[in-house]
Amino acid sequence: MPLTVLDHPVAAHLLTLLRDARTEPAQFRALCRQVTLYLLVEATADLPIRSCKVDTPLETAEGAELAAELVVVPILRAGLGMLEAATQFLPRVAVGYVGLERDETTAVARSYYCKLPPVKGREVLLIDPMLATGGSANHALDLLAKEGAAGLRVLSIVAAPEGVEAVRRRHPGALIFTAALDRELDARKYIRPGLGDFGDRLYGT
Ligand code: PRP
Ligand code: URA
Repeated sequence: MPLTVLDHPVAAHLLTLLRDARTEPAQFRALCRQVTLYLLVEATADLPIRSCKVDTPLETAEGAELAAELVVVPILRAGLGMLEAATQFLPRVAVGYVGLERDETTAVARSYYCKLPPVKGREVLLIDPMLATGGSANHALDLLAKEGAAGLRVLSIVAAPEGVEAVRRRHPGALIFTAALDRELDARKYIRPGLGDFGDRLYGT
């Protein structure tokens, strides 16, 4: 199944605080980092490992190391709120950036920045808290697939069914992880019930 929805009581509690309109930007940023950790645990659970030896202070022990080369790509701006959790959680990771902004009337994503490390043959975690129409995620996934990424994983905090379906249709091999699958998009292509404009709440704009 390409869609995984988090099922964890602590993540559900944190998400409720994120949704709360009274949550101020400083707490919102902290909650964003915390929920992202749960998404990372879920999204990396099947990564391949290889065995290795490790010298402890007392003897040599069996160890394990990640066999996959990982790249994490936040979609600017809101994806930046999830980046610190990803770089702290993963022992070794390269970071790329894709800047996209939805037009306020059409909700179509416009690209304004792109800087990617080599992604060919690598496992890419695309991080963006909101998967609404799926236009932004698909735009970034197109770039990453064109560059030869070996695997594509999308980590979102709140997803709309329309966005999940759009990604599933265009990138059927991509795995999607979300903390919540919400009801629908409204006429302005905002997720309902959602949590409003993630970037604005993250940065107090
Ligand atoms: C938001 C969000 C996603 C996008 C999702 O970004 O962070 O990138 O909308 O919508 P979509 O699935 O319909 O494309 P926005 O364009 O508002 O920019 P921002 O992150 O700079 O606030
Ligand atoms: N982007 C957001 O920040 N919120 C939504 O509900 C949809 C797109």
